[in-house]
Amino acid sequence: MLKTHSCGELNKKYVGSEVTLAGWVDRRRDHGGLIFIDLRDRAGITQVAFNPEVARECHLIANKMRTEYVVRVWGKVGARPPGTENPKLFTGEIEVNAEKVEILNPSKTPPFYINEDTEVEESVRLKYRYLDIRRDRMRENLILRHRVVKFIRDFLDARGYIEVETPILIKSTPEGARDYLVPSRLHAGKFYALPQSPQQLKQLLMVAGLEKYFQIARCFRDEDTRADRQPEFTQLDLEASFVEEEDILCLFEELLVQMAEEISPGIKLLKPFPRLRYTEAMERYGTDKPDLRYGLEIADLSDIARESEFSIFSSTIDGGGKVKGIAAPGCAGYSRSQMEELNKIARSSGAGGVVTIAVGNKEDNLDTITMEKIKSVAAKYLTLEQIRSIARRLGGAAGDLLLIVAGTDAVATTALGELRQEIARQLGLANPKLLAFASIIDFPLMHWDEKQKRWDAEHHPFTSPREEDVNLLNSEPGKVRGRHYDIICNGYEIGGGSLRIYRSDMQRRIFRLLGYSDEEIDQLFGHMLEAFDYGAPPHGGIALGIDRLVMLLAGEKTIREVIAFPKTQEAIDLTFNAPSPVTEEQLSQLHLILREEE
Ligand code: AMO
Repeated sequence: MLKTHSCGELNKKYVGSEVTLAGWVDRRRDHGGLIFIDLRDRAGITQVAFNPEVARECHLIANKMRTEYVVRVWGKVGARPPGTENPKLFTGEIEVNAEKVEILNPSKTPPFYINEDTEVEESVRLKYRYLDIRRDRMRENLILRHRVVKFIRDFLDARGYIEVETPILIKSTPEGARDYLVPSRLHAGKFYALPQSPQQLKQLLMVAGLEKYFQIARCFRDEDTRADRQPEFTQLDLEASFVEEEDILCLFEELLVQMAEEISPGIKLLKPFPRLRYTEAMERYGTDKPDLRYGLEIADLSDIARESEFSIFSSTIDGGGKVKGIAAPGCAGYSRSQMEELNKIARSSGAGGVVTIAVGNKEDNLDTITMEKIKSVAAKYLTLEQIRSIARRLGGAAGDLLLIVAGTDAVATTALGELRQEIARQLGLANPKLLAFASIIDFPLMHWDEKQKRWDAEHHPFTSPREEDVNLLNSEPGKVRGRHYDIICNGYEIGGGSLRIYRSDMQRRIFRLLGYSDEEIDQLFGHMLEAFDYGAPPHGGIALGIDRLVMLLAGEKTIREVIAFPKTQEAIDLTFNAPSPVTEEQLSQLHLILREEE
């Protein structure tokens, strides 16, 4: 090694020791005669002192050093003079008095400060990611990610799970998103696909008798990038044989609790993880991935609204719709423009708008409040008693702003789900120290796709229907529940899985229901159906998004902050500038001719 110690480990115990350090110049201070540099490596910072009276040559070299130069220093550890200690640093009581120094590599002036946590435009951070990772935030996030993955491997190894790598070049089969395709050189006109997940492979490993498999698996999906979505991302993928829903959910609850407690000791959890049925989550929170760090639950007001003379309410109910609402605590004083913002959110989720009722102010009492204190366009069509009943149903009080949406059940709940999140954001209701994990169960197996006019799998076509609902498969497929479960946390879906179909007759039946002809089934999924005919065991599994999990543990807002080299929102790798053109020769080897851009 070019160094005897790291820059993060020397303290008073080492005073008098001869050491060699190597790293980057974090800061350089020239105090007239004496020069100090803060020498930085991954482990920390150590102050190095250059005294011209003691080592003249060294002092001359230190004079040439600039930030981010890579240097190696030989010297003796000394106690810092009293009053100059830095209690914020582990090494703050000592310094190394340089006796010899070497500049291993100079550095250009970096495009942003490495030693300060200043805001830097993301495109610049991504172009110079290798410099961005030198900064504390990214380094700490990547170390956290390493610890999460290590914890997972140790935890599952101790429970008999074995890690198996599965291929990256596979066959294109419909799995929900668009595939990334790789043209074959050896087979003109044919393509491999990059796996959207190892779903089929892990099921085949169960047919193969491995019983307990996991993999830290890279997945590829050509879909629009978002804060919590990347074209390539990483899953903890797991599958086990002879299991039921509870086995997988309990295993993951144990994994997540132990991991969070070991890795982020300051974090609080909801224990045991709440379980919500899909329909319950939709009704109470307007989404299947609710943020459970706060209440603000949605309530159905249709029975009260039906009796009112407000035509928006009554006509919606006559048309088979619903009137639902939430109470925004203490928001009765919201301005016109604040309410217009809320209206925009409701409209962008498909609703006509949101009806607001401002209920006096905090000093009032709901039981004695008068009509003069109520502000709403709907006020003249509602009785005081109706307003009180609405407020009570929503768990509201005087001083609250009641937000009411009328529409189809789905539109009203979805719009209120969005409003609920916005109000919580505005009021800062979500405790940043809480990771509110929960499981969502009893999803529908399939839904009607209006665009394609066919049934589509809610998750993927390999999910097993619930035994007691199988008799509805032909008559009312939309009512069949799948043996699927999701794990959610703080408003994100962080994992999903299911018990699988393991008999070829049932699998073929589901494919047919999803609109595939027998010919298509055999061509696309024949390998799975054939495998199921060779003694496939009952099995099930789950996949957890590692990027999303680490994002939440790190308290970050996008998964790009926990990925070493992520793509931009436009799916571009700015460090390499990929995707990029290739040569005519490469194209011709792949039997490809590019169409002229229109
Ligand atoms: P699913 O598609 O729900 O299930 O994915 C599982 C988890 O992977 C994460 N995830 C993503 N993370 C970042 N960027 C993306 N584009 C992205 N897409 C998904 C999410 C999600 O919860 N084969 C099934 C699992 C199974 O049934 O066992 C699957 O992939 O955190």
